[in-house]
Amino acid sequence: MSNFYVTTPIYYVNDKPHIGHSYTTILGDILARYHRAMGDDTFFLTGTDEHGQKVQKAAEARSLTPLEHCDDTVKRFQELWERLGISNDDFVRTTQERHKKVVRAILQDLFERDLIYKKEYKGHYCVPCERFFTDKDLVEGNLCPDCGRPTNELCESNYFFRMGQYRDWLVDYIQTHPGFILPDFRANETLGFLKKDLEDLCISRPKSRLSWGIELPFDTDYVCYVWFDALINYISTIGYCGEEENTKFAKYWEECLHLIGKDILTTHTVYWPTMLHAMNLPMPKHIFAHGWWLTGNAKMSKSAGNVVNPMDMIGKFGVDSFRYCLTAGMVPGQDASFTEESFILRYNTDLANDLGNMLSRVVKMSFKYFNGLVPPCDTLEDIDKELLAEAEKAIPAVMDAVRNIRLDKGLDAVMNVMRAANRYMEKTAPWTLAKNGETKRLATVLYTAAESLRISSALLLPVMPGKMKELRMALGFSAEEAVKADYETLASTRLVSGSAMVDIAPLFPRIMVEKEDSACNKKQPKAAKQEKAPAPAVEKKAKEEEMPVGLISVDDFFKTELKTAEVLEAEKVENSDKLLRMQIKVGEEVRQIVSGIAQYYTPQEMVGKTIVIVANLKPAKIRGVVSNGMLLAAKDGDTLKLVTIDGGSFKSGIPVG
Ligand code: MSP
Repeated sequence: MSNFYVTTPIYYVNDKPHIGHSYTTILGDILARYHRAMGDDTFFLTGTDEHGQKVQKAAEARSLTPLEHCDDTVKRFQELWERLGISNDDFVRTTQERHKKVVRAILQDLFERDLIYKKEYKGHYCVPCERFFTDKDLVEGNLCPDCGRPTNELCESNYFFRMGQYRDWLVDYIQTHPGFILPDFRANETLGFLKKDLEDLCISRPKSRLSWGIELPFDTDYVCYVWFDALINYISTIGYCGEEENTKFAKYWEECLHLIGKDILTTHTVYWPTMLHAMNLPMPKHIFAHGWWLTGNAKMSKSAGNVVNPMDMIGKFGVDSFRYCLTAGMVPGQDASFTEESFILRYNTDLANDLGNMLSRVVKMSFKYFNGLVPPCDTLEDIDKELLAEAEKAIPAVMDAVRNIRLDKGLDAVMNVMRAANRYMEKTAPWTLAKNGETKRLATVLYTAAESLRISSALLLPVMPGKMKELRMALGFSAEEAVKADYETLASTRLVSGSAMVDIAPLFPRIMVEKEDSACNKKQPKAAKQEKAPAPAVEKKAKEEEMPVGLISVDDFFKTELKTAEVLEAEKVENSDKLLRMQIKVGEEVRQIVSGIAQYYTPQEMVGKTIVIVANLKPAKIRGVVSNGMLLAAKDGDTLKLVTIDGGSFKSGIPVG
């Protein structure tokens, strides 16, 4: 048993939570639940970031005090987290005195040790990001490098934290601590940022411009910069500088995993470590940056006006299915495109078909032939042992996925068990056994299938606590037992024959899609083909007449977006000789593709290659693994060669055509 501390970023209280925020919090919640079930002493923290100019302005606009405004808006997050079953151990608000007093103590200490000093400063300020930028940081003259909006030029006296002096220390720390910044390519991004000079950090704002913040203890004309204040939440809440609560800090701090989005990498992997180093504190164990949920190609955000409201999604899918689809739908570290169709596809495939269907089959037949009791288990045949072995194999796979923050892989491992279980049912054909009166064998088959559900449901409990409780009660667990997952004993315990099962309604009723052209129903290949609305008949005919048969127009060709991509990681897809799963970089975006080239290229050969991909292909599932794009290659008999760029030194994301 060890200690585990997981944090989410603290969300801007002004924002309306969308699925991007929900993703980080659900990820934190699932990891916390897994660690608790693994026996770790766990602490999970989330909260809200309540100071700064945006809050002050929003409050003014509503004729409220900033705190009244925060007291009101914070509820949106608290209510959503409650609705999503988030099991945080604490909720920090940066306006709480317990936080503010720690920020003041840290500021005073750094000031006394001359690590904070005052100077006149001229810079470009981005109000939405609440950050200063230098001339060289700006894009196209005056635009913020982060959000692309215009910056304002400001000249004022301010206090600075001597961050620049820690550059070499930080580079060395990152290089000697693999795993400190995850995924690895994000560590390289930070190291790239540290190649240029590291400037000192402006940590104050004059009250004449902004009064809503924590007052500097050594100069009452200033408040603290919102990021300097916000980052400290990770230690203030667990009792740093406190007295009675100091045990929590001592217990958890060095086991900390910060979950963040890739847009706040610099603040967390440059500002925060240097602040901690200046305070003579150890570093958190890991800082993990996930990608963005995109709408089309754009980041989902309030300012872009393209957000998906989690409450709507909960209404459509239910809390647990939403948690599942969100977690399975993003390879942590990479961006993922949100479409309702892809959620429905995943729901119908994994939950309604593979898992829900399996449960219904087992429960229905146990009621029909064994009075609703868990059937007795007789001698196991090879085929039974194989399914049990497959289920047991998923236990370490999920534990590894939790440790490596690859929950998508963990869920895939469990769904593999369910797919194997459905195949097992087809092969053993219990309905035929029943017809032939082979009751002993029938009981053993149903028991084995139920066992695969017992293991799978325990592994899915942290992801879908409500639904898995129902499923496990259907398998004969008491309400109390149904919510407990003990992973140490999961493989060595068995279902108790004779326990009373519950005949429940379908756990994940299939979502029917009315639109004929939807690709949501994988059993309707015809519908999938008709993705685009057919062009009006007359117009179509005219076009056909103009174009010689077999030829396409240049417009048609350019509908296909071909782009260069760099292969960052590659590995074989489990249980497949042909497929490679690759993480590729396409410009700023990292995504996953699956390709049938494993017999021609090893994973090692692929890493570092610049390939050409079809970038605007609808994501598809190949052997249960999501592929977001298609690689181009030519095959001549037994030889396959990749399409590459002549000379090979192009960046990724360059259009080809
Ligand atoms: N308040 C700061 C964090 C301070 S932490 C000491 C902040 N808040 S935020 O509300 O703007 O963003 C919080 C988190 O939500 C970030 O990690 C951000 O990446 C994440 N997301 C916001 N939009 C997102 C998507 N579209 N997709 C995934 N996550 C994104 O930054």
